[in-house]
Amino acid sequence: MLNVVVLVSGGGTNLQAILDKISSGELTNTRISAVISNNEGAYALTRAECAGIPAECISPKQFETREQFHQALLAGVKKYAPDLVVLAGFLVILPPELIAEYKNRILNIHPSLIPSFCGTGYYGLKVHEAVLARGVKLTGATVHFVDESTDTGPILLQKAVEVKQGDTVKQLQQRVMEEAEWEILPKAIHAVANGTVRFEDGKAWILEGEAQ
Ligand code: GAR
Repeated sequence: MLNVVVLVSGGGTNLQAILDKISSGELTNTRISAVISNNEGAYALTRAECAGIPAECISPKQFETREQFHQALLAGVKKYAPDLVVLAGFLVILPPELIAEYKNRILNIHPSLIPSFCGTGYYGLKVHEAVLARGVKLTGATVHFVDESTDTGPILLQKAVEVKQGDTVKQLQQRVMEEAEWEILPKAIHAVANGTVRFEDGKAWILEGEAQ
C-alpha cells in the first residue's frame, strides 16, 4: 500500500478528487496518511478531517525564520514516513532538503501544459490569466515529479483542455480542473502505487496500457 502525504494550500478540490477515486476504487493500493497545509484557513484541511485523515497546518507565520519553517515542514512530512508526497495545490516553494530527501517521490499538479505558462510567478489563477492574455486555444494540466527548480521536473501525465471564446479566468480554471486535473492527478498516483512508472534519462513515463 502506497503511503501518501498530501500538501495543500487552498480549496482542496484535487485532494477531494484523490479521496473520491480511492473511495470509488479507481485509485488503488493507496492510503493518504496525512494532509498538511501552509495555510490554517485552507478548506482542504476540512475535507481531510471529514475523510478521517490527520490534518495539520505548518505555516511560515508560526516561525521566526524561513529556515525554521523548512525544518518544521521536513519533520512534519517525515513523521508520516510517506512513500510519495503529493503537492495538490501547494503554493509554497519546497525546502531543498525535502526535494533531496524525496527525489522522484514528489508529484505536483500544475494547471497548464508545461513548458508553457509555468515557473516562478505562475500559480493558481495567474496561470489562467496569462493563458487568456496570450490567446492560446489549448491549455491543460501537467503532473510532474518535482526537482530543484520550479516546474522543471520529469513530466508524467498531461491533458489538453480547450480555451473557449469569452472564457473568464474562473471559467477556464474550472474547466481545466474538471477535464484535466481531477483526472490526471489520481491517475498518476495510481501508476506510482501500482509500480508502472519508469525513469530514464531524466524523463518519466507510465508503462503502455497501464495508465488507465
Ligand atoms: C490547482 O489548479 C492546481 O493546479 C494549482 O492550484 C490549484 C489548487 O486548487 N497549483 C498550482 O498552480 C501550482 N503551481 P485546489 O486546492 O482546489 O486543488
